[in-house]
Amino acid sequence: MAVTGGLGGCDGPYPQSVLAPSGAAAETLAALWWVMLGGATVIFLAVIGLAFYAVRIDPDEHPRMAEARHLFILGGGVVLPVVVLSALLVTSFVISRDLTRTVAEDALRIEVVGKQWWWEVRYRPPGRAEPIVSANEVRLPVGETVELLLATDGVIHSFWVPRLAGKTDMIPGRVNRMQIRALEPGTYRGQCAEYCGGPHALMAFYAVALPPDEFAAWLEREAEPAGAVPDDPFLAAGRELFLESGCGTCHTIRGTPADGDFGPDLTHVGGRRSIGAGILPNNVGTIAGWIADSQHLKPDNKMPSFNTFSGEELRALAAYLESLR
Ligand code: CUA
Repeated sequence: MAVTGGLGGCDGPYPQSVLAPSGAAAETLAALWWVMLGGATVIFLAVIGLAFYAVRIDPDEHPRMAEARHLFILGGGVVLPVVVLSALLVTSFVISRDLTRTVAEDALRIEVVGKQWWWEVRYRPPGRAEPIVSANEVRLPVGETVELLLATDGVIHSFWVPRLAGKTDMIPGRVNRMQIRALEPGTYRGQCAEYCGGPHALMAFYAVALPPDEFAAWLEREAEPAGAVPDDPFLAAGRELFLESGCGTCHTIRGTPADGDFGPDLTHVGGRRSIGAGILPNNVGTIAGWIADSQHLKPDNKMPSFNTFSGEELRALAAYLESLR
């Protein structure tokens, strides 16, 4: 584990290491990596060994060896590379065949759209016409193969959850498909893996794998609107502020007049792990901080800092958003 952590270089509560796979595709890729590393190590050691031998050898003492040099060059320079590279090629074909299997017709499909610099996530369970829209978090049922439909509304991004599957680019004008199957419940950090301008390095997200029944219950809740006025007057004041301050120009809270689609859908924002696309834990304090000074927390993101709210107003707004579970 120390080795994989060191090589992955991203320890912490949510390591982003391809060598600690927890998804079917990531396991396949990790196996391919170990095969290639093993092959490369054997050849490296053989070449270094031969180099030492060649430096130390006295040609007069090995006249027969000198005569066989053509054979040696042919064997080591042509035959060996052809055999080794062919073997690795076949292995990589066989191992990666799994990654491109067709997904069942009735599988859950999740559309992820790369935005600058966040992720729109739309769940399309079979038999439902309208997608369930969320952002910056992809929830998955453990053990089920889910098809991701990856698109972008602007520049190229790359969707990558190292512990679950390989990278897939999101390319303008295209929908790229990838399948993902989480093997264990857990939270896995993902990251945009293609430079997309500005705060690209702060374009992260979490994939949360849940047992299938928990996932189904969560998705049912996620499909609900959140229009009701909260009983708590403080939260109701926050809702009022949200609607009166123009937040709905960019954000949607289903069930309220707020129906903007420029920024992330906030219908169940309080239930997500993070805010700002994976950069901060989600709580009243960070939400208030984000509203007041998002340009400091994530420079050049498309939401202006709203530093006109009083402390009390910020707290009410943040508490209301946090209550949207
Ligand atoms: Cu999106 Cu880099």
